[in-house]
Amino acid sequence: MGLNIISRRHFLGRTASLTAGAFTGPNLLLRGQEKAGKRLNIAIIGANGKGQSDTQGVTLNHNIVALVDVDSKRLDEAAKKREKHHLDSGKEAPPAPKLYQDFRKMLDECANDIDGVIVSTPDHTHYVAAMHAIKRKKHVCVQKPLCNRISEVRDMHAAAKAANLVTNMGNQGRTMEGQRLAKEWIEQGAIGTLKEIRLWTNRPIWPQGPLVKKAAECPPELNWDLWLSSEASEPYFEFELPAGMDPKKNKRGMDPKKNKPGNSVHPFTWRGWWQFGSGALGDMGCHIMDATFSILGQLIPEQIDVTSSPISDTCAPVWSDLTYHMPAGKHAALKVSWKDGSKNGVANKPEISPHMTSELAKKAFEKASSGMMFIGTEGTIFEGEAYCSSPVIYNEERYTEVRIDMKAGKIVKTETRSAMPNNPQGEWAHHIVNGGQPASNFDYSAPLTEFVLLGNLAVRAQQSVQWDKQNMKVTNAEAPNKFISRPAYRDGWKA
Ligand SMILES: NC(=O)c1ccc[n+]([C@@H]2O[C@H](COP(=O)([O-])OP(=O)(O)OC[C@H]3O[C@@H](n4cnc5c(N)ncnc54)[C@H](O)[C@@H]3O)[C@@H](O)[C@H]2O)c1
Repeated sequence: MGLNIISRRHFLGRTASLTAGAFTGPNLLLRGQEKAGKRLNIAIIGANGKGQSDTQGVTLNHNIVALVDVDSKRLDEAAKKREKHHLDSGKEAPPAPKLYQDFRKMLDECANDIDGVIVSTPDHTHYVAAMHAIKRKKHVCVQKPLCNRISEVRDMHAAAKAANLVTNMGNQGRTMEGQRLAKEWIEQGAIGTLKEIRLWTNRPIWPQGPLVKKAAECPPELNWDLWLSSEASEPYFEFELPAGMDPKKNKRGMDPKKNKPGNSVHPFTWRGWWQFGSGALGDMGCHIMDATFSILGQLIPEQIDVTSSPISDTCAPVWSDLTYHMPAGKHAALKVSWKDGSKNGVANKPEISPHMTSELAKKAFEKASSGMMFIGTEGTIFEGEAYCSSPVIYNEERYTEVRIDMKAGKIVKTETRSAMPNNPQGEWAHHIVNGGQPASNFDYSAPLTEFVLLGNLAVRAQQSVQWDKQNMKVTNAEAPNKFISRPAYRDGWKA
């Protein structure tokens, strides 16, 4: 079905409700003006998948004026789910949003009615979609990682800053209490001197490792050309699942029509492809490295060492081991290790901290498919999931002492808390209305994304890299530098 037909059908079908409760025009750039109770007008690009929960983060308090998705079935589904969310909340659903498949057309037609744009597409489209919005001075909330190329991250950060926009990345851990507590504990001596940080994840839980494309028929509901966005045009393809991969592990990419694991990059399984995603590290790093980045004072590593399973020009590895060498700052220079995936069916996890000797501690570590350990001279902060939402301290005696110190006011809260915990999209909208910036605004999340993506330079080049952040350049070899930028943008896509 062609794009114009879809937009027109939905437009005609919904004209009545739009006229009845017509939006009162943009509340654009409200900052510093009267604002209590203001409802922003927001567009979502990439309406299904994560975009759906991103929509739910703002839809009850603001107006969703446009939903964009390149898959007509998923677009319809997203619109229905948004409506249901309103009905379930007991509140009357506001006028239905306009539906689009091409975000450029949406922005051409709706820009005057929009305050902000949420981008929740696959990684390769974040940059072009967000930049189209930024150039129109729309506030932006972009899913993690901000982009899958370092030069795009820097470019987007600079453009949003020059336009004085409210920005945010979708790393929800940055809105949570746990990350702040961990930082306060470390800064106020709860684990002695910080010596080392160990991070890990069981991802990829989607096909990764060298995958081979095979020609296939594009599903009629998918506009493949728009899905590729700024990438070079190529025929729709599928791929063989890697030998030995348990098809159940690919259930997030399940093809509902064929009732078998989808072997297409759309939806969800684009993650393992360098062109479209950023591998397990790019997918989970902006969550799992977030607390580390904050605790170390937002420093960029000087060197990253790597070993990994085989990669290809197109796909990320099944597992990787990275060591980030962090310069001295708030803490003495130290190493941050990262492990992902599994080796011969065994989860690729670090050694347990020497402070985690009790049965309870060992069980907690065993259970943790993703996690982090901040190892100090007198204790370890352990978190058994990706967001650092509920960290604890080992050994148990140390944790008891720290909790007593907190009650006695000897360890105090110093970090600013989020206005909307666990809701980065809501937090972003809150700051558009009330002023200020979310905690993961681009001044924070752009260098965090760079921190994460630097690991991919090492993985893709299969060698240690030394990073000159001033000049955005690997200094110890030339080859990794070709992965800093996207090789090319298709005509008509770059803002
Ligand atoms: N913060 C989190 O916890 C979290 C969780 C999951 C995903 N994510 C991020 O959200 C983003 C989306 O991931 P996902 O798992 O939902 O992917 P997905 O492929 O399942 O869904 C993406 C949606 O965007 C649509 N889309 C694709 N290209 C588009 C384009 N050019 N214009 C408009 N729509 C387009 C697709 O049809 C699909 O409905 C990624 O950046 C991912 O890293 C974040």
